Amino acid sequence: MIRPIVKYGDPVLTRPAASVTEVTDETRRLIDDMIETMYAAPGIGLAAPQIGVALRVCVIDITGGRRGGEVITLVNPEFVERTGMQLEEEGCLSLPGHNATVARPERAVVRGLDRNGLEITIDGTGLLARALQHELDHLDGTLFVNRLRGLTRDLILRKVRKQQRAGTW
Ligand code: NI
Repeated sequence: MIRPIVKYGDPVLTRPAASVTEVTDETRRLIDDMIETMYAAPGIGLAAPQIGVALRVCVIDITGGRRGGEVITLVNPEFVERTGMQLEEEGCLSLPGHNATVARPERAVVRGLDRNGLEITIDGTGLLARALQHELDHLDGTLFVNRLRGLTRDLILRKVRKQQRAGTW
C-alpha cells in the first residue's frame, strides 16, 4: 500500500526513531509499503519516519527500481565504517523540489537486519554510500538540510516557509 510521505515541518522527521525489537510480519508489511511508496514517488531511498512511523527501518534502491531485486532493506542499521569524502547534489522526498550539494563520506559500511531478521552488512561507495548515510540520518531525526552550511540551508528553509504559508507545501 502506498502511504503518504511526510514533509519537512512534521515533528516525526526531527525525532530519533526507536529500534525494532523483533522483525515480524507486521514489520514486513511496513517494509513492503515503504518499498511501494519509494518506487511510486519515485525515489531511491525511504526511511520509516517519512511515512510517519518512528521506527529504525529504511529501504534503498539506487536504480529506482529499474532493475529487479536490488532493493536493500535495513532494520536497526548502524555504521561500521565511514571513509573518504564526496560532494554531490542530494534531495529528499520530504523536501520535494529542494536539492543541494552535501558533503558525505565516499564509503560507508552499514550493519543491520534484513526483512527476515538476519544480519546483513552493506558496503557502499558513491551514490549507495550517500543513500545509506541519508537514510540513517532520517532514523536519527536529521535531514540533509541540517548538513548544509548556514546560508544554503537558510535559503532552502526560507523557500519552504513561503510554500507553507501559501498552502502549497
Ligand atoms: Ni530523505
